[in-house]
Formats: sequence, C-alpha cells, structure tokens
Amino acid sequence: MEIDDIKTIAVIGGGTMGNGITHVCAMTGYDVILVETKDEYLNRAVNTITKNLDRMVKKKKITEEDKNKTLARIRKSTNLEDVKDAQIVIEAVFESLDVKLDIFKTIDSVCPAGTILASNTSSISITKLATATGRPADVVGMHFMNPVPMMKLVEMIRGFATSDDTFNTVMELAKKLGKIPVPSNDYPGFIANRILLPMINEAVYTLFEGVGTVEDIDSVMKLGMAHPMGPLTLADFIGLDVCLAILEVLHEGLGDPKYRPCPLLKKYVEAGYLGRKTGKGFYDYSQ
Ligand code: NAI
Repeated sequence: MEIDDIKTIAVIGGGTMGNGITHVCAMTGYDVILVETKDEYLNRAVNTITKNLDRMVKKKKITEEDKNKTLARIRKSTNLEDVKDAQIVIEAVFESLDVKLDIFKTIDSVCPAGTILASNTSSISITKLATATGRPADVVGMHFMNPVPMMKLVEMIRGFATSDDTFNTVMELAKKLGKIPVPSNDYPGFIANRILLPMINEAVYTLFEGVGTVEDIDSVMKLGMAHPMGPLTLADFIGLDVCLAILEVLHEGLGDPKYRPCPLLKKYVEAGYLGRKTGKGFYDYSQ
C-alpha cells in the first residue's frame, strides 16, 4: 500500500483514543469509518469530536466550514465488516489481548489483501497481534498519545514481521496527519512506556518509603526537571490501573525485578482509587 492509495481510514473503538484518532484523520481530509459496539457509543464519540472541533473554531484555529466538512467525513458503523472499505484500519479498543486478537482475525478475513492493519495498543505485542492474521507483514503499531489532537508524537511500532513498505507508508501517514512519527521496535513498553512507567513507579516508591509527600515529589520533577506535570499527577491522569497493567507487562516481558510494581500502587488500585476517572488517586478530584 502506498500513501497516495490511502483515501479511507477505519478506526475501531471510539473511546478516549479512538475519537481523537478519528478527529485527526477526518480533519486531514480522510474519509473515516468509525466502528463501535453500540450506537450510543458512536454518538458519544462524535459528540466529543464535535465539542473539540467547536473549541478549535472558537480559538480561530479552524473555520465553522472546516468543522462541518470534518464531521461530514465520518461514517459511523456498528458492523466490524464495514472496515473492508478502508485502506488502513487503526484498532483502538480496550487493552485486552483476547479482544484484540479476535478483532485482528475478523478484520484480516474481511479486508482485501494489502490493507494495512494497525493497532494503537500501548503494551501488547504487535508481533503477537500479527499472528492472528494471514498478513503479518502488513501489521504495525501506531501508538498515538493522549490527547491525540494536541500531542505531536506517534510512536511507530515495527513488529518482527512488519515489511519496510508497510512501515514506510504508516510513517508517511503519521506525517500527513501533522504528527511526528518516531520508530520503535516491538519490545515490552516500546520506548515511551519503557521509560515513563519506571519513572512513575519510582515516584510511587519514593512516596511509599516516606522520602517525600505527593506534592513534594511532583514539585521536584516539575521545577527541577522542567516536566510539565509531576509523575504522580500524570499517573492519576493515565489511570493507576493502566499504570499497574503496563508495569506488569514490563515486569513479565523483560523479567527484570527493577520493573516490579510498587506495593503502594497495587494498594491504590485494590482500593479502587484509580486517579481522575474515579475522583481519587494520589490527589482528590471530588470537588
Ligand atoms: P477506552 O476505554 O476509552 O475506549 C475503548 C473503546 O473501544 C470503547 O468505547 C469500547 O466501546 C470500544 N470497543 C470495545 N470493544 C470493541 C469492539 N469489539 N469493536 C468496536 N469497539 C469496541 O480506551 P482508550 O483509552 O481509548 O484505549 C484504547 C487503546 O489505546 C488501548 O489499546 C490503549 O492501550 C491505547 N492507548 C491509550 C492511551 C490513553 O492515554 N488512554 C494512550 C495510548 C494508547
């Protein structure tokens, strides 16, 4: 598949990441087929995209006409087989290996030869997902960052069997979407989470061992290292359950005890204190 052959992009999953990916692809001028499990979720995704586009109109980054054209390029579907009309499929459903393997098997069976099958997974092996298909050379990772319309980076994951042609095409695609693609080979955590999660884990250990308070740990990293957000604030934003799951992937996949999740992180997750989304994590968001 060449970059100029790509006219239609299918996005599976319209949650946090899927709606951002849909937004960016449609705004670039691609027709997008957005697939969800229920109409209700499709409407929720398009409402979020509309709200985000409205904000861009207000800030004069785009015109009302741009917004309407972008929305008109999005086709909603609850039938996974509709992805067959796309030249590239970007999967962004829950981080579950079984669910993703099922989806890759189905899309491989409905998409014509040559269609690129990409996943936005943050921690699942692209090489493993490729084994569910008869086209491992056309399977690749496109790891967008949250929030997708704002963040420049797309970590591009080359699976063990990904072909140069496929990889070059998705690198071009990311650039067309206005992003900066950075290649990574397919090992646990890729580059971003391999470095970010041990830092967050160490921040939790620093808290656990009483070296500093939540606020002091974040202040040191913000003021001293010029991080825009402290590691504990960032962990609350990502979700403490998600942080724990990625650390477990690193620990298991790399087998090195340096990745063992801090017992305090496990305790927060056990207690249901998952960060912003539950109103409580290292900080209290209930107000
Ligand atoms: P989310 O939970 O917000 O959204 C997942 C969506 O997938 C839900 O709306 C759900 O209804 C839909 N879905 C589930 N099964 C489906 C199916 N069979 N067909 C169609 N839709 C289905 O999850 P989120 O945060 O958007 O994550 C999606 C992926 O992106 C995961 O693989 C995650 O690891 C990855 N990711 C997440 C980041 C984040 O900051 N949230 C950052 C980078 C990657």
